[in-house]
Amino acid sequence: MLDDAQQFLPVVEGVTEAEPLLAGRVVANLFLENSTRTRVSFSIAAGRLGAEVVDLLGGTSSSSKGESLVDTAANIAAMGADALVVRCSASGGAQLIADHVDIPVLNAGDGMHEHPTQGLLDLLTIQQHLGTGDLEGQRVAIVGDIASSRVARSNLHALTTCGADVVLVGPAELVPDEFTSIVPTEPGRGSVTIAHDLDAVLDGIDVVMMLRIQLERHSEDMIPGDYVERFCLDANRVARLGVGVPILHPGPINRGVELTHEVADGPRSLILQQVTNGVAVRMAALTGLLAS
Ligand code: CP
Repeated sequence: MLDDAQQFLPVVEGVTEAEPLLAGRVVANLFLENSTRTRVSFSIAAGRLGAEVVDLLGGTSSSSKGESLVDTAANIAAMGADALVVRCSASGGAQLIADHVDIPVLNAGDGMHEHPTQGLLDLLTIQQHLGTGDLEGQRVAIVGDIASSRVARSNLHALTTCGADVVLVGPAELVPDEFTSIVPTEPGRGSVTIAHDLDAVLDGIDVVMMLRIQLERHSEDMIPGDYVERFCLDANRVARLGVGVPILHPGPINRGVELTHEVADGPRSLILQQVTNGVAVRMAALTGLLAS
C-alpha cells in the first residue's frame, strides 16, 4: 500500500493527473466526530480518482436524533454507496459497522482505538525521510497523551512491524504500562518501551512524534500542571536532538503545549508532508478496495 501511495504522490502534488480508477463509485464519509485533515484528505483522494463523495456529518445526520451507528451506516449502504469512511467516538465502531454492512469500511479514527490511515501516512513519511522501508535499529519517540491516542496505537503496529523500536514518552498518568503489550514480541519486530522523562531520551532518538493532549477524552485533572515544562518540544530540546532528526505531529496541534510555534514551523518539521502523504495513502487504500 505504501508503494502505491508513493506512486500517487505526483498526483497529490499536482505534477500529474490520476487515472479515474474509481469513476462511477460513491464513497460516503460518515464523520460523527470532528475532523479537518482526515475527512478532507479522504474526499480529495476519492475525488482525484474520479469517485463521487458524499459527506454525512454528526451534527446534520439522524444520529443526532438517536439513530444508532449501525442503522445510520446500513441506510447509507442501502442507498448504493460503494464504501464507507467512518470516524466515530466509539472505540470499535468501524469494526461494528463492518460486521453489519456488505461494503468496505475504512476506519478514519474510532475513539481511542485505531487510526490506521494515520499510522500508514506516518510510516510513509518516516520511510521517505530515512530513505528506507526497513526501520530496524531506528528509535522513534511518541510523546504526549498516549492513553487517549488512536494514533499511538496504530503507529505501534506500523512502526514495530517495520522493525523500529518505539519509546512512548509522557507523564505516568498518560502512558499506561499496558501499552508495552499491545504488539506481540516476535523476531524481526521492534520493541516498545516507556519513559516518563523526555529530556532523558532526547539524544538517542531518530524520529520524534508529538501527540495532541485530548481534553475531550479525559478530564483536565489528568494533565500534570507542569506538562508544558516537562514535555513541550521547544527550541532548546530540539537543539539536543541528533542532526536531522525529524519532528512529526498528526494534528491538530495545540501550539505552545505539545510543541512551540518555531518547532512546528521549523526546518525539521514534517507536519505538512504528513498531510500531503495522507492523501496519497488514502488514494492507495481506496484503490485497493474499490478499483476493478
Ligand atoms: N490527524 C487527524 O486525524 O486529524 P483530524 O482529526 O483533523 O482528521
